[in-house]
Amino acid sequence: MRQFWAQALFYLSGTSQAADNTDGLVGIPTVPFSKSSSGGYFELHNVGAIVVDSSFANVTDTRGTTLIPPTLYDFATTFADDLNSYLQGEKEERNNIGIEVGSQAKNSQNIHLTIGNSSDFLDVAGRETSEGYSLSVTPSAITITGASPLGVWWGTRSVLQQAALNNGKLVVGSGTDSPGWGIRGAMLDAGRHYYPPSFLVEMCAYLSFYKQNTFHVHLSDNLINNVDLYSRETQLDLYAAFRLLSPDPAVSGLNKRANESYTREVFDDVQQRCAARGVTIVPELEMPGHALVISQWKPDLGIDTDISLLNISHPDTIPTAETIWKTFLPWFHTKTVHVGADEYVDASLTKDALATEYNTFVNAMNGFMQSTANKSIRIWGTFPPSSNYTNNIATNVSIQHWELYEDNPYWDYIQNGYDVLNSDDAFYMVSKYSAGYPQTINITKVFHGAPDGGPYAPNIFDTSNSTNNPSRDEPRVLGHIAALWNDFGPNTTVYSEAYYSWREGLPALADKQWGGQLVEDDYYAVFDKLHAAIPGQNLDRAIASKSETILSYSFDNQTHLPTVKDSSGNQYDGKTDCTVANGSLTLTPTCSLTTPLSSKGRNYTLSFSIYPTKQTPGAIFSGPDSVLFAGNGTISNVTIVASGNPYTLNYSLPLNTWTKASLVAQGNATFLRVEESTGQKAVTEMEFLTRIGLDGESLVWREMAIEAPLATIGGSDFEGLIKDIKLIA
Ligand SMILES: *[C@@H]1O[C@H](CO)[C@@H](O)[C@H](O)[C@H]1NC(C)=O
Ligand SMILES: *[C@@H]1O[C@H](CO)[C@@H](O)[C@H](O)[C@H]1NC(C)=O
Ligand SMILES: *[C@@H]1O[C@H](CO)[C@@H](O)[C@H](O)[C@H]1NC(C)=O
Ligand SMILES: *[C@@H]1O[C@H](CO)[C@@H](O)[C@H](O)[C@H]1NC(C)=O
Ligand SMILES: *[C@@H]1O[C@H](CO)[C@@H](O)[C@H](O)[C@H]1NC(C)=O
Ligand SMILES: *[C@@H]1O[C@H](CO)[C@@H](O)[C@H](O)[C@H]1NC(C)=O
Ligand SMILES: *[C@@H]1O[C@H](CO)[C@@H](O)[C@H](O)[C@H]1NC(C)=O
Ligand SMILES: *[C@@H]1O[C@H](CO)[C@@H](O)[C@H](O)[C@H]1NC(C)=O
Ligand SMILES: *[C@@H]1O[C@H](CO)[C@@H](O)[C@H](O)[C@H]1NC(C)=O
Ligand SMILES: *[C@@H]1O[C@H](CO)[C@@H](O)[C@H](O)[C@H]1NC(C)=O
Ligand SMILES: *[C@@H]1O[C@H](CO)[C@@H](O)[C@H](O)[C@H]1NC(C)=O
Ligand SMILES: *[C@@H]1O[C@H](CO)[C@@H](O)[C@H](O)[C@H]1NC(C)=O
Repeated sequence: MRQFWAQALFYLSGTSQAADNTDGLVGIPTVPFSKSSSGGYFELHNVGAIVVDSSFANVTDTRGTTLIPPTLYDFATTFADDLNSYLQGEKEERNNIGIEVGSQAKNSQNIHLTIGNSSDFLDVAGRETSEGYSLSVTPSAITITGASPLGVWWGTRSVLQQAALNNGKLVVGSGTDSPGWGIRGAMLDAGRHYYPPSFLVEMCAYLSFYKQNTFHVHLSDNLINNVDLYSRETQLDLYAAFRLLSPDPAVSGLNKRANESYTREVFDDVQQRCAARGVTIVPELEMPGHALVISQWKPDLGIDTDISLLNISHPDTIPTAETIWKTFLPWFHTKTVHVGADEYVDASLTKDALATEYNTFVNAMNGFMQSTANKSIRIWGTFPPSSNYTNNIATNVSIQHWELYEDNPYWDYIQNGYDVLNSDDAFYMVSKYSAGYPQTINITKVFHGAPDGGPYAPNIFDTSNSTNNPSRDEPRVLGHIAALWNDFGPNTTVYSEAYYSWREGLPALADKQWGGQLVEDDYYAVFDKLHAAIPGQNLDRAIASKSETILSYSFDNQTHLPTVKDSSGNQYDGKTDCTVANGSLTLTPTCSLTTPLSSKGRNYTLSFSIYPTKQTPGAIFSGPDSVLFAGNGTISNVTIVASGNPYTLNYSLPLNTWTKASLVAQGNATFLRVEESTGQKAVTEMEFLTRIGLDGESLVWREMAIEAPLATIGGSDFEGLIKDIKLIA
C-alpha cells in the first residue's frame, strides 16, 4: 500500500491542462504543480506560525455566492484549528500554531497567506475566478496567494491534503490552481427526512475538504401523492414537511413539526459555520409542485385532483408563496435561492397542460425575489421554453437540470440563453432503495462517464450522446451538484446513511466538479489517508483506540467507584451512581452509568450481559444518534430508536435470567445477537430492518445502519442487572 502510494504521488497520468504543470500533485482534486528540480521539502511539523498579510487580513470578497464571506483572517483561524488538530493527531508534543498579522515573517518556517491579482486565475471558460490560488513551497516557507480569501482557503486544503498523504512533508515547487466551475457540491432532500443542524455542518466540513463550495438543502417536500389511491383526507394527512420554523404569525400553522425544524438562530448558525469553511448553503423551498405542506396548511390552494400541486389561478396562491418567501428571505445568506418548481404535472391532464401557469408562477417569483431582496432564483428544469406557451421563463432564472426526459439542457436552455447547473441523473441517488435509481455514487461513471469513456465533467449532460453536451469551456454551465433524495420518507434511513451514500464517491466527483485530473487508481490509492484527515467532522463516528477493544467495563474489581475503570487501555472510564454488587451493575430508574463516549459508527460489536427484573420498557444504552430499548414504550420488544424512528425486533429479553447480548454493526446492517443462559445456549441473530414502500406498493425490507449508543447506560425506566460491557471495533 505504502509503495503503491509513493508511485501515485509522483505519477499523475492523464492529460494535464497546463503544459508546464505536467507533474502535478495527486490530491482530491489534483493540484497543478511543478516540483523544483532542486528537490527538498517543507516539513509541516516545523511550522512556526501562520502569517496573514496585514494588507488583506480584514478583506472579504463579494464575488462568491455567499453574502457572509469570511475575511482572510477568519479563514486563517479555521485553518489554524485544522492544522493544530492535524499536528496533535500526529501525536506531537508541541504548542499550538498561532496566527501573526504582518507583512513579513519574524521567523522562518511560516505559512504565509496573502491575496494576489485575480486575473491570474481562470475558470474553464477563461473567465477570472475569485476561487483560484497559487501555492509556493520552499524548504523554509509555504506561501498561498489567493484571488480572494476563499481562494486562499482552497489553498490551505491542498496543504492539509499533501501533508496527510506525505507524512507532513510538502514537496518544494509551485503551482497555480483554480476551479473550472463556480458551483460544486451536493444536494440533500431534507424535506422528506429531517437532518439535525450538526449533520449539515459536518457535511459542509466534508465537502469543503474536497473544495466543494455548495450545499443545496431542499427544505420542503412530501411523500409521493398517489392520487389514484389517496382520498382527499389521506392527502391532507400524508407526510409533508416544511423545515423552517418562524414565530411570524404570517406563517403560523405552516410548520407542524417543530422538533424537526430549523429556527432562524439555528439556520443562521449552520450557514455561518458552513461559510467559515467556504461552503454556501443554497436553500430550496419547493412550490408549486411537491407543495403538499402548503396545501395542508391552506387546503383551498391545492388543485382538487392532486392537492400537492398548488392552483396558480387561485388568487391567494402567488400571494401565499410571496408571504412565505418574504418571511424567510432575511434568513438566507446567499445571492441565489432555489424556488423548486419541479414536476408540476397533473396526472389527469397532458404533461405540459399546466406549463403556462407554471411559467407565470416562476416569473412572479423571479420578479418578487429581485425586487424585495435583489436575489436571483434557480429552478429545476421542468418546462423548457416553447413557442406553444404564451409565456416563457425569464432567461435570468438559472436552471438546475436533473433528467433528460424533462429537458435537454444544452439545446433547450443553454442555446436559448439560460445558465444551467448540472444535476443530471448520472449521479442522482435515492436513499436506501429505489426501483430505478442507485443509492451510492457510481465511481466508475465518475472516471469513465463521458460518451467517449473519458472522465465525467459538469458539461456532460448526456453520458452516451455527445451531441447533447456543450463544450467544456461553455460559460453557461454553472457547475455540478449531486442530488440525494428521500423518496420513501423519514423511516428509511438514519441521518448518517445520507453521508454514506456520498462517502466513497462524492470526493471523486469533487475532482471532476473542480476540473481536476485525478485517475481512478490514484483515487483509490489516496482515498483512505485523505478521508482520515478531514477536519471539522466525525461523520464516521470513529473512536480513537489502542487496540480492537475500545471499551471494557467489568464490574468485578471496581474499587474506585463512582469511577468505573475501563480495562481496554484507552482510559474511557465511566462514572456511576448505581450499585455494584456481585460483579454486576444494578440499574434502576434513578441511577445510571455515564461514559466519556457518545456513538460508534460502523463496524462495531457492543456486547453485554443483562438480567431484566421488570417488564417496564426502558432505555438500556443511550447516545446522541440512537437509543437501545428493552421495549418500545408500550410493548417489551427490543427496539432501537434512531433519527426519530423506532425499529423493533420480534424479540423481548427474558425476565429474571441472564442473557448475553451483542448489538452488532456490519457494514450497512445492524443486528442483535442473543444467547440465553437457559435452554439451548444457541446464538440467535436478529436484524434491525425497515419496511420501505408507499401505500402498499413496492414494499421491501431493507437493512438499517445504526450507530451504537454509548453515552449513558440505564437512567431510564429499565430495571435489572448488567455486566461485562465491551465495545469492539
Ligand atoms: C482588522 O479589524 C479588526 C477589528 O475591526 C482590527 O482590530 C484590526 O486591527 C484589523 N486588522 C488589520 C490588519 O487591519
Ligand atoms: C491585475 O493584472 C492585470 C493584468 O496583468 C492588470 O491589468 C491589473 O491592473 C492588475 N490588477 C491589480 C489590482 O493589480
Ligand atoms: C407544440 O405542441 C405540439 C402538440 O403537443 C407538439 O407536437 C409540438 O412539438 C410543440 N412545439 C414545440 C415547439 O414544443
Ligand atoms: C448494503 O450492503 C450490501 C452488502 O455490501 C449491499 O449489497 C447493499 O446494496 C447495501 N445496501 C445499500 C442500500 O447500499
Ligand atoms: C456505473 O456506471 C457504468 C458506466 O460508467 C456502468 O457501466 C455501470 O453499470 C454502473 N454501475 C452501476 C452499479 O450502476
Ligand atoms: C443524440 O442527440 C441528438 C440531439 O438531441 C439526436 O438528434 C440524436 O438522435 C441522438 N443520437 C442517438 C444515437 O440517440
Ligand atoms: C478480579 O480480581 C480477582 C482477584 O484478584 C482476579 O482473580 C480476577 O481475574 C479479577 N477480575 C478481573 C475481571 O479483572
Ligand atoms: C409499540 O409497538 C406497538 C405495536 O406495534 C404500537 O402499537 C405502539 O404504538 C408502539 N409504542 C410506541 C411508543 O412506539
Ligand atoms: C419529533 O416528535 C415526534 C412526535 O413526538 C416524534 O415521533 C419524533 O421522533 C421526534 N423527532 C425526533 C428527531 O426526535
Ligand atoms: C414483538 O415481538 C413478538 C414476538 O415476540 C412479535 O409477534 C410482534 O410482532 C413484535 N411486535 C412488533 C411491533 O414488532
Ligand atoms: C465492516 O463490515 C463490512 C461487512 O462485514 C465489511 O465489508 C467492511 O469491510 C467492514 N469495514 C471495516 C472498516 O472494517
Ligand atoms: C415506515 O413508514 C412506512 C410508511 O411510510 C410504513 O409502512 C413502514 O411500516 C414503516 N417502517 C417501519 C420500520 O416502521
